[in-house]
Amino acid sequence: MKTIIEQIDLRQMDKETIKKAGDILKSGGLVAFPTETVYGLGADALNEDAAKKIYEAKGRPSDNPLIVHIADMEALDNITEIIPETASSVARKFWPGPLTMIFRKTGAVPLGTTGGLDTVAVRMPKHPAAKEIIRAGGGYIAAPSANTSGRPSPTTAQHVEEDLDGKIDMIVDGGPVEIGVESTILDMTVNPPMILRPGAVTKEMLEDLIGKISVDRTLIEPDSSKAPKAPGMKYRHYAPKAELTVLEGDLLQVIKEINRRAEEKAAEGFKVGIIGTIETVGRYSTGNVKCIGTRQDEMTVAGNLYGILRDFDSEGTDYIFSESFSTGGIGNAVMNRLLKAAGQHLIHV
Ligand code: TXA
Ligand code: MG
Repeated sequence: MKTIIEQIDLRQMDKETIKKAGDILKSGGLVAFPTETVYGLGADALNEDAAKKIYEAKGRPSDNPLIVHIADMEALDNITEIIPETASSVARKFWPGPLTMIFRKTGAVPLGTTGGLDTVAVRMPKHPAAKEIIRAGGGYIAAPSANTSGRPSPTTAQHVEEDLDGKIDMIVDGGPVEIGVESTILDMTVNPPMILRPGAVTKEMLEDLIGKISVDRTLIEPDSSKAPKAPGMKYRHYAPKAELTVLEGDLLQVIKEINRRAEEKAAEGFKVGIIGTIETVGRYSTGNVKCIGTRQDEMTVAGNLYGILRDFDSEGTDYIFSESFSTGGIGNAVMNRLLKAAGQHLIHV
């Protein structure tokens, strides 16, 4: 299959490109498009055969449900049974945006889209191109992150191309995404609502609005033998090819220990990578040192995380050592993804 790649100017979106993407989606094809979190791989969510193609292109296990993307509030009724009042407040405040909510589904949503579940995950993205493409494609677009299963999520169209060129109909290139980690997932079918995946909309932000929120236990105790409630969270996602170790503790001690470990591995002939910040990169002397952003604003760290992991992959890195980040705000989502990529390999120094 030849994949069409088209750039789109977000200030003045080309109607032809949007129409082309919409027509492909309506006829059951696959289109990757930008959202403010990560690039998504879209298909008509109400067409089971189209949704199936997503699993094939990504090599994704068929029990891992897809998020249905909508562009307008009115679209919600057709696909969800009960919308609790709390969900309406959350939607009013955080939609469009980096938040997904889980509801009981109606018969309109095929089980092929929800991985056999009787619930459906719904998100209304804020990205202008995403909105237009969802509308042009019929209003209900299933879209997982547009990466090969097990690779870091794509934050640029080039990342999508690396993984899916020749396997999907079209890639709409809207430049690098704004946030860089996937949406917060909030399960509204339980009381209190439960966070299944941390993202840019934090527990604190949700609690300020609707009161008590619970958190899937496996996010707090990642080593527990329990299965996470979001099926996709059980896979060792976002895995770089290199062995990644995250070090936490007093920053000066962390830098010292990373330098020690990096020198040791380099002396053994391995290719070593280091993830540091603007504040610390000058203190590393061995290996390929990459700056992930500034500790002053962890949104910058979120934005660069997946791209850096991909770069280390393409450079054939054997070992990566990373500093750790705060667990407040977006830092919580960053640490969740970083530790997943590290197979929970966290060292306290
Ligand atoms: O930011 C995002 O959410 C991106 C963009 C493209 O919107 N999408 C994304 O999709 O991250 P994906 O498929 O990579 O991750 C969706 C997660 C998976 O862990 C999946 O198991 C979970 O959501 N999920 C989907 N439907 C669910 C449901 N009904 N119940 C529980 N978990 C669900
Ligand atoms: Mg994904």
